[in-house]
Amino acid sequence: MKKMTRIGILTAGGDCPGLNAAIRGVGKAALGCYGMQIVGVRDGFRGLVEDNLLRLDKATLAGILTVGGTILGTSRDKPHRMPFQGRVRDMTDVIVENYRKLRLQALVCIGGGGTHKNALRLAQKGLNIITLPKTIDNDVPLTDTAVGFDTALGIATEAIDRLHSTAHSHHRIVVTEVMGHRAGWLALGAGIAGGADVILIPEIPYDVRKVAEAIRRRSQRGTNFSIVAVAEGAMSREEAAKFRAAHAKKRAAQTAEAKAKARAELVALDEQHTGNTLRLAVQLEKLTGLESRVTILGYVQRGGAPSAVDRLLATRLGTACADLIHEGVFGVMVAARGDGTQPVPLEQVAKKRKEVPPDHPWVATARRVGTCLGD
Ligand code: F6P
Repeated sequence: MKKMTRIGILTAGGDCPGLNAAIRGVGKAALGCYGMQIVGVRDGFRGLVEDNLLRLDKATLAGILTVGGTILGTSRDKPHRMPFQGRVRDMTDVIVENYRKLRLQALVCIGGGGTHKNALRLAQKGLNIITLPKTIDNDVPLTDTAVGFDTALGIATEAIDRLHSTAHSHHRIVVTEVMGHRAGWLALGAGIAGGADVILIPEIPYDVRKVAEAIRRRSQRGTNFSIVAVAEGAMSREEAAKFRAAHAKKRAAQTAEAKAKARAELVALDEQHTGNTLRLAVQLEKLTGLESRVTILGYVQRGGAPSAVDRLLATRLGTACADLIHEGVFGVMVAARGDGTQPVPLEQVAKKRKEVPPDHPWVATARRVGTCLGD
């Protein structure tokens, strides 16, 4: 008799709408089309260390398509640097051992940039790994898009729509912070869709005087309110120069000591960046004389039911993942490509980030409708 294929599935990194739809997509196809057994791993890679598992069957997979978050729980724990029993340890070998003990023939990891790095490490240890891209930041490379982005885009756009009317009534600048530390897809997309007057993203460092000038020009034309959509990671030209210098130091560091020093410098710069949106609003108020307010959208962008587009994407990627497992294709991410999917080697995805190229059509589009990008 042919042995039944047993697969594990986990969600790791920040949550987002559509994770359950992806779990369901993999699960339904794996069970229904291929008769596989599915083991849910709780709280990301930690579940494989702590044997914290959930058997996924028809009943557990039912009714989750529209539910936000992840029924498996998630964490940002890394296999090779995991806080465990009071200290940070390398738990990679424990994970490998438990994968074997559980008699898994494949492990599906649904996650963003960090998850892909961790997944590659496990694949290099000989595990049959396959991943699905998810992130509201849309910064996973070599896939058209990722699960969660469309929903977050809709939420951020709706928020900008709503902020328009109150900014208009009070003749204020409303600085709206959108998630995205290193990539500006969400701020740019929602800014264009919501008709923001200024969009600031990490990839295009801004000059606050240029932003103020654009807002003043609107006032002179009789429009004395403005919406500024700012990505969490957007920064001024001066700040960007400091980050660039610190990154260059880290790359050039020859000794462990020099590397640690450069890393500490980057951490300090990140800390200084906290609260940047609030500081920006104060600066704009001073420079324009218009009252300013801040709205930080935060985790609202990651909560609630997935959009129809995300449900469809997650189901497409999930079912394609089950097909690939059946075919014995591992060490890949299931990428979205047009209406279809494509397996992409993990080595090509891990440790890379899809940032907004300064000449991207969305950037050109924003400029053509007169949006100030701060440069
Ligand atoms: O990676 C998605 C994301 O929501 C980013 O946009 C945001 O900067 C980050 O996660 C927040 O992470 P955490 O959930 O760990 O606070």
